[in-house]
Amino acid sequence: MPDSPIPSAPADAAERVGWLRAEIARLDHAYYVLDAPLVPDADYDALYRELQALEQRWPQLRSADSPTQRVGGMALPEFTPVRHRVPMLSIRTETDTTPQGAVGFDQRLRNRLGLDDAAPPIAYQAELKFDGLAISVRYEHGVLVQAATRGDGETGEDVTQNVRTIRNLPLRLQGTVPGVLEVRGEVVMKRADFLRYNQAQRERGLATLVNPRNGAAGSIRQLDPRIAAQRPLSFYAYGWGDIADWPGQPDTQHGMLDAFARMGLPVAAQRVHGAGAGVLVDFHARVLAERDSLPFDIDGVVYKVDSLALQAELGFRNREPVWAVAHKYPAQERSTRLLGIEVQVGRTGKLTPVARLEPVFVGGVTVTNATLHNEDEVRRKDVRVGDTVIVRRAGDVIPEVVAVVPDRRPLGAPVFDLHALLHGACPVCGSQIEREPGEVDWRCSGGLYCSAQRKQALLHFASRLAMDIEGLGEKLVDQLVDAGLVRALPDIYALRAEQLAELPRMAARSADNLVRSIGGSLHTTLARFIYALGIRHVGEATAKELARHFGGLQALLDADVERLEQVPDIGPVVAQSIHTFFAQEHNREVLRQLLGAGIHWDETAGEVVSRHLDGRTFVLTGTLPTLAREQARQRIEAAGGKVSGSVSRKTHYVVAGAEPGSKLERARELGVEVLDEDALLRLLQPPAGAAEGAS
Ligand code: IVH
Repeated sequence: MPDSPIPSAPADAAERVGWLRAEIARLDHAYYVLDAPLVPDADYDALYRELQALEQRWPQLRSADSPTQRVGGMALPEFTPVRHRVPMLSIRTETDTTPQGAVGFDQRLRNRLGLDDAAPPIAYQAELKFDGLAISVRYEHGVLVQAATRGDGETGEDVTQNVRTIRNLPLRLQGTVPGVLEVRGEVVMKRADFLRYNQAQRERGLATLVNPRNGAAGSIRQLDPRIAAQRPLSFYAYGWGDIADWPGQPDTQHGMLDAFARMGLPVAAQRVHGAGAGVLVDFHARVLAERDSLPFDIDGVVYKVDSLALQAELGFRNREPVWAVAHKYPAQERSTRLLGIEVQVGRTGKLTPVARLEPVFVGGVTVTNATLHNEDEVRRKDVRVGDTVIVRRAGDVIPEVVAVVPDRRPLGAPVFDLHALLHGACPVCGSQIEREPGEVDWRCSGGLYCSAQRKQALLHFASRLAMDIEGLGEKLVDQLVDAGLVRALPDIYALRAEQLAELPRMAARSADNLVRSIGGSLHTTLARFIYALGIRHVGEATAKELARHFGGLQALLDADVERLEQVPDIGPVVAQSIHTFFAQEHNREVLRQLLGAGIHWDETAGEVVSRHLDGRTFVLTGTLPTLAREQARQRIEAAGGKVSGSVSRKTHYVVAGAEPGSKLERARELGVEVLDEDALLRLLQPPAGAAEGAS
């Protein structure tokens, strides 16, 4: 085939491509570096697609610094070594983690420089110590040409392809740029990006990252740049290596970083410069307070002599700069061994698996327990007893197990199973434990019987919409339980004023008042009483419905799940919860004791009710003039009757409305009594004096 000359791109296409690249770089900078997007995502996407199309149409316009080329090359067989022209050194760590560490650093430098107390203070810059992976990024005439890891400091690995995928790192620098500039800094994964990435992975059933630092380091070391491109990484500049042809190069550390920022490089906002150790001490304290709200993890701060001339004078010792020091904060993550898993019962009955750990110093304290949140979390992280685990404690947050070190697992460690571990019983009270569909937590069904839930149960029992015991609030409940005066709900009714008066801060009069309001609560309503029991999912409205539907406590106690589900607004989950509660002998015992203490209610208070239709079977057919089918059924059941779907010899009544079906015919055949709505309503009226007693 004869060679056909490649047509050169028209000048207007070349111009447009140049403009698009600059515009996209400007928008990227605003979005990823300044955190201040300039246009809606859709506008950005349109520009990006236009550039892609033009580059496709005119291949000779393609270039490595185009924003479309962040993910370019193919997977590599291995990384190429890169020799650093200026070695990448590490810095000394100040061992004194108190603010005095900064003062000590300043003092050593003053001694070394022969400055007496009268000499002026040294100017410093304080920066964050990023907790990620150090890299060096080489720009030639403003274009990113190479990126390398630190390696042993002399030779690193060429990770250019992966580093190009870091969205806040410019592929081309802005403004007047040096002939050569090697920018040094840290690749990190912001915490929000880390959480979002892991969440998405979890949803797809894919592997998650252990922590942001591993996420950053692992991504840069991927041989396939497409994998790195999917990881949300960020870069922050803090230093430099090789520099050439930079007229007007700044002469201070802070001036250098300011210049970097002007070129479009990401530089963290958290840095200060000023004279004397005080600036450093303040920065140390301020950043420590802000640490947990920073968008990324840090492991301390770094102090640097600000003047580059003074840096050069102080030089290096043992391959570490004399002019810089890292002042670390206590580590927030450490590894240790998981000795066992215990289950704690919370105030609401929630069962939380808790890791018992070999003691480890993390986040400034010795940690021996860490939360495992719930069974799903334990399984997802595949945490097993005997594992080496990574424990995190940030700020005031409860320590948690974030991951396991899989290759250090002892042989035969079984998968965690909360139900099996507890043999299905609450570790505090022995009640059955349950986990509802769609819920992550197992719970103790003991409620008021479970001493772990005692305070909560008491408080609820006494609350205004329940038994309404005035004066029995949080403080008093704490006192009563802590003093051992109340172990179970019925104990409330045995309290005597003399006992109460002995409690701290309890006046004799308040004690009398309390005893009076406890006594007053004995007379209540069935709905309040049901609500007061604190059955899971049984709120005030449900309690009223139950009281109305069943009329008396015994009918409620006798109801099976099916029957409970017939109560309006009660679904399978709530029905099951009520049934489990009343099925447990110890809960029934509490009920007996409460009623024995004198709790009672009368049924004439409009809440029903008589069971005068007990044992009578009804069949409904056709449309009744005023009652909906469901209403009719409820009222029949509330009066003790049963509603069945088909007519048989055992049917007592068929209630027929308009357009009745074959059921009416059948009733006539069998000679079953047929009622219209009026007759039904009359039948539903309780005969005088039929109301049931309280117990
Ligand atoms: S300056 C010659 N500044 O900490 C001085 N390093 O041991 C070179 N690091 O692995 C380091 N934040 O990646 C410097 N603001 C900061 C830093 C920082 C994190 C890392 C760096 C290196 C280690 C120093």
